[in-house]
Amino acid sequence: MKVAVLKETFPNERRVALVPANIPALAKAGLEVVVEQGAGAAAGFLDDQYVAKGARIVADRGELFQADIVLQVRVCGTHAHAERADLTRIKPSSVLVGLCDPLGSPEAIREVAQTGASLFALELIPRITRAQAMDVLSSQATIAGYRAVLWAAMELPKLFPMLMTAAGTLAAARAFVIGAGVAGLQAIATARRMGAIVQAYDVRPATREQVESLAAKFVELKLDAQDAEDQGGYAKALGEEFYRKQRELMASVVAQSDVVITTAAIPGQPSPRLITAAAVQGMAPGSVIIDLAAERGGNCELSQPDQRVVAHGVVIRGPTNLPGEVPGHASQMYSNNVTKFLLNMVKGGELTWNLDDQIVRETLVCRQGEVTSPRLRELLGLAPAVPGPPAP
Ligand code: NAI
Repeated sequence: MKVAVLKETFPNERRVALVPANIPALAKAGLEVVVEQGAGAAAGFLDDQYVAKGARIVADRGELFQADIVLQVRVCGTHAHAERADLTRIKPSSVLVGLCDPLGSPEAIREVAQTGASLFALELIPRITRAQAMDVLSSQATIAGYRAVLWAAMELPKLFPMLMTAAGTLAAARAFVIGAGVAGLQAIATARRMGAIVQAYDVRPATREQVESLAAKFVELKLDAQDAEDQGGYAKALGEEFYRKQRELMASVVAQSDVVITTAAIPGQPSPRLITAAAVQGMAPGSVIIDLAAERGGNCELSQPDQRVVAHGVVIRGPTNLPGEVPGHASQMYSNNVTKFLLNMVKGGELTWNLDDQIVRETLVCRQGEVTSPRLRELLGLAPAVPGPPAP
């Protein structure tokens, strides 16, 4: 079976879905890899390196769509800036693998379904131990959390560490991280390493220990967040009254912070609004907010996706693709995840279509012209699917 690696078309997307180092493992499983010319260049992986590991370079994008499996970081047709021509290149027998924002853009999934192709949405990899090595959300969030701190450090008119110098003593910067999931924990660790005093809050009680293990302080809020976690380990939506109280209780912590990094998210839903314009006004001029939830409406009322907003002297940034700014390591991690994902489904050079496997079943969002994911069918107002069609 042939696996194609496409060059990304999303604006400023510098990642690539497969790096040369993973090709031998795929070849051993009976997969032949073809790579679009220049696909890895922006991430530092040149065509020659792919060839050295056994891949073939192809210049014609149409030819790549003749492959059995097509790998991308952002699956064609499923994002606002998608190259529409790709949709016409997809074959009904194609198997597409990548990120495609299934819960945020279900209509785009329906469009891909209409091509007849099968699509595996990597956002839906279940959070089970066996799937940890395939978890692209975690690997990319790790990069985003790290990078967010660097952005904050570049914007802040102060240094992070406490310094005692002949020119006087500089106080350490105070950082507050809201949401201590994968990105938040990495942001805490990075800000600590850079010398900031770090506080953090999350609605999931289990995070307290994780925050403290990074030598940060868990912020006590008198909120009843007992039932805040779902079975998958994600936060649940907690209702406007809860968020109102949370905003109120957090405002003083926000006001005392030089840097606030917000990462609070509820899968498939708008992000909770946790910092109001009034709370921004309460911050000292020169303070910085990095809102990692900007793409889903933002945790801060004033943030705008990919914009630099300045309000009351506070800089608010809402970057939406921080992993794309660290394309070498982000691609390496994504590629490792995708390789593990493929190897789990391939036996003797063929896809097994084992829908009894939770990882396969939950990531498959469309197949044979139908949206197959129950969650997406519900979002699209479609009747529940009839039990699984036979494997092709
Ligand atoms: P995410 O990106 O959906 O959310 C980020 C964080 O925001 C979460 O920690 C969430 O609890 C928090 N949050 C939501 N509403 C909030 C609010 N109002 N105030 C403060 N914080 C709020 O989640 P992420 O980072 O992708 O993962 C969450 C957790 O899932 C991880 O920390 C881990 O426990 C679990 N996980 C398990 C894996 C596995 O077992 N394979 C792999 C990865 C994560």
